[in-house]
Amino acid sequence: MYWLFRNLRFLFLASTMEFVTANDQCRTEVNIQGMALKRSVFRRWSVAAPHLCDVKCGQEIACQSYNYNRKYQICELNNRTKEARPENLLSAPSWFYIRRLNGRAPLGSIPELPAISCLEIKASEGKKTISGKYWLDPTGTGKAILINCDMASGDMDECKYNISDCHVNANCTNTYSSYKCTCKAGYTGDGHSCSADPCYHYHILSDANRKSSYTTSHPDPAFCDSSFLEGWYRFVGAAGTKMPTTRVPAYRCGTDWSGWLNGTHPTVEDGKVRRTVCFSDRSTGCTYTTYISVKNCGSYFIYKLFQLNCNSRYCGTD
Ligand SMILES: *[C@@H]1O[C@H](CO)[C@@H](O)[C@H](O)[C@H]1NC(C)=O
Ligand SMILES: *[C@@H]1O[C@H](CO)[C@@H](O)[C@H](O)[C@H]1NC(C)=O
Ligand SMILES: *[C@@H]1O[C@H](CO)[C@@H](O)[C@H](O)[C@H]1NC(C)=O
Ligand SMILES: *[C@@H]1O[C@H](CO)[C@@H](O)[C@H](O)[C@H]1NC(C)=O
Repeated sequence: MYWLFRNLRFLFLASTMEFVTANDQCRTEVNIQGMALKRSVFRRWSVAAPHLCDVKCGQEIACQSYNYNRKYQICELNNRTKEARPENLLSAPSWFYIRRLNGRAPLGSIPELPAISCLEIKASEGKKTISGKYWLDPTGTGKAILINCDMASGDMDECKYNISDCHVNANCTNTYSSYKCTCKAGYTGDGHSCSADPCYHYHILSDANRKSSYTTSHPDPAFCDSSFLEGWYRFVGAAGTKMPTTRVPAYRCGTDWSGWLNGTHPTVEDGKVRRTVCFSDRSTGCTYTTYISVKNCGSYFIYKLFQLNCNSRYCGTD
């Protein structure tokens, strides 16, 4: 009798369905002609009449609404409502859309029906949705997790629940409906990828015999930077504070061919720059050259250096 009543209403009135819930609240779902909800269809059937689509929906815990095509008799079950995804309700001739009439699980209330955000739950279930724990799968991993939603703001704490994609060397800061990743001190990058900032991770060059004013004494063996590991270096102490930017004569800095920077030092804003190092022999200031990187760290410079042949060395100065 009940089914007959419903089916008759469905077929003859064709635009509204009524359902009286246990607590006597009268609820009416209106079917929306010529529209269908796209991108949330999780099951599709061929059924002869709309009420059979309604039955199919009632058998699926995740069914939130359905689309029915009267012409081709296709039933599509959606795991969202048009309230959750208003942008996906699109014009579709000979279809109609209707929200599940009874027994609809609120979005995010069960793990089989996770939302992508607290805001989506609020949109789906209305402004009066209470704050609390809901099932979410924000990154679409297929694994729902319980997350606390502040429904007053529609916010969730991505940082606290470890669903952000901040780098291990980044701090995660919760913001309204999102989060921010900031590289920790000593690291640079966009927060999703943070690499060690060379201004805080460098090797030290401090030997007095590396200074450009030091004259290499023969026949003592000359030093050379042939065992250098490629990396960032800072001149400190007796070696000076930076590389000289004017020609250093040969047989200085404890070596034969003295290396000096043929170019200027960068500003902090310049970031990492490429520069030429000239190696002086007896007759010329640039018997050969190599390229290095230089960076201004505010109160000091660092140089990205690599190993040299004998007998060459990078010089320092004050
Ligand atoms: C909801 O439906 C969409 C579209 O078919 C699908 O990609 C998604 O996995 C479904 N979500 C769940 C929780 O089943
Ligand atoms: C956070 O998630 C990452 C990968 O998603 C995982 O490797 C890590 O162990 C998680 N941390 C905590 C505290 O759950
Ligand atoms: C990152 O978090 C730590 C510990 O909470 C804090 O000391 C540090 O200042 C933060 N760094 C940045 C760049 O926000
Ligand atoms: C230094 O570089 C400039 C510009 O590249 C070049 O003209 C000059 O000859 C170089 N200095 C020496 C000593 O080779």
